[in-house]
Amino acid sequence: MQQLSFFQDTETYTSLARNSFSHDGVCAEMARIALDERYAHLLEETDKFNRQLVSFQANKTEVLHSWMKYREGFSANLVELLIKELEVESGDVILDPFAGSATTLLEAKMMGINAVGIELLPHCHLAWEAKSRAFDYNLDELRSIRGLIEQTIPPETDEKFQHLKITETAFSSQMEKDLMAYTYWFETLDVDQNTKLLCKFLLASLLEEISYTRKDGQYLRWDSRADKIRKNNKKRIIQGKKPLNGINKGTLPDIKQVLLERLNRIIIDIAKLKNDPPLLSHQNLIEGNTLYTLPTVAANKFSAVITSPPYANRYDYTRTYALELAYLGVYDEIFNLRQSQLSCTVENKSKVGKLEAHYQSIGCHNRYKQILDIVESNLALAEINIALSKRNERGDVNNRGILTMINQYFTELTFIFAELYRVCCTGAGVVFVNDNVRYAGEVIPVDTLSTNLAEQFGFIPHKIYVLPQRKGNSSQQMGKFGREPLRKSITIWKKP
Ligand SMILES: C[S@@+](CC[C@H](N)C(=O)[O-])C[C@H]1O[C@@H](n2cnc3c(N)ncnc32)[C@H](O)[C@@H]1O
Repeated sequence: MQQLSFFQDTETYTSLARNSFSHDGVCAEMARIALDERYAHLLEETDKFNRQLVSFQANKTEVLHSWMKYREGFSANLVELLIKELEVESGDVILDPFAGSATTLLEAKMMGINAVGIELLPHCHLAWEAKSRAFDYNLDELRSIRGLIEQTIPPETDEKFQHLKITETAFSSQMEKDLMAYTYWFETLDVDQNTKLLCKFLLASLLEEISYTRKDGQYLRWDSRADKIRKNNKKRIIQGKKPLNGINKGTLPDIKQVLLERLNRIIIDIAKLKNDPPLLSHQNLIEGNTLYTLPTVAANKFSAVITSPPYANRYDYTRTYALELAYLGVYDEIFNLRQSQLSCTVENKSKVGKLEAHYQSIGCHNRYKQILDIVESNLALAEINIALSKRNERGDVNNRGILTMINQYFTELTFIFAELYRVCCTGAGVVFVNDNVRYAGEVIPVDTLSTNLAEQFGFIPHKIYVLPQRKGNSSQQMGKFGREPLRKSITIWKKP
């Protein structure tokens, strides 16, 4: 690894680079300071990419992209800007190795550019299937389905919603009956396969709205009317404990009304889209784990990468999307899906053993060793690991799993960076949207550390755009370690 310089000259820092990473200077921070100093010239605060653009917010009113709310998604406008910034053209292929609701793939389709995505979660695949067929639906059939929904009360069914433990009592019993009645009724309708798929997607996309739950970052929040909460509170009162406050979602909408509103919106969007179809291009969303899929992809294939991995923020997608996963029949598989996610929760176990076996099975054991060596010799990551250990000994870390989460997060990302370098063509631009984080008073510069790890494989760091809006801290962190606004960044690297 190239030795980093440790200039103390404050002139070399821009206001965007930090000169302290450890609250009260408790832990060593020189390696992290050196990283910010090394990439200070690339840090650029810009209004071009604001918080709205980098989150799902801007998609809420967008044709097509608004069909399913994916809070962790970025916006179609961001992808469009990045495609232009990277000068990607038709005939090129873009890769999104953490495709989520497939914003990158869809925007590429709208711009007539080929794209490949990789994603683990089944409801994201359903969303992609439904949205990517926008030009193939039979509008007359969709309008007649709308009429049928208006006029029909679907027959009751004995089919039951197969709940996961964490989704039990998420619906009132009447709502659950209605949901299953529509599910079964749609399945039995004599309609085109595309229409059937769209109906299934429609139901999967309204589950949160009709339930006693609300997705809230790390958790599913529960309305106090849910049986689960009521029973729990009864118990607490008997035990002399204060009942827990649930949220209040107000009057829940009628499922028929939500279905009609959403279908209406979709019909309007499809009519608009069909009026002005894009140039023909090809997209493919691969269902799988990026860590194991990428090493098997041919080299020099992609002209650009536009992606946003899960942030190192402990959000567990398999919990927040448990309703959607259960609805699609994911049951025992949920544990696998949780463990397959890029390590970003305290529950994730190390994947290093599995990665070694995988690289060995494809005849690339040396490559595995080289990548791991780069992770293990990174000075800043070593500093962060030591700092978090020290913080843990001092009692500053509220969950020991944070230590393994952070190390695994960067280890796994490094495997991705290595493979991205291999699968990209010369001149390709690679964009990662991510947030810096702080645990136990230790700032973790995800943007500069990722850039540093990527550089080890040959990527040329090109730009680190910093959003004007910084990321806040949890109230727990602020109480103990004060307020420390953190960078939300878009890092761009180039393959020379
Ligand atoms: C921040 S979201 C991406 C959102 C996306 N940009 C969008 O606009 O919808 C990260 C995604 O990575 C997926 N993911 C996490 N670990 C993965 C893995 N090992 N392989 C494939 N996908 C993974 C998650 O399921 C999640 O959907």
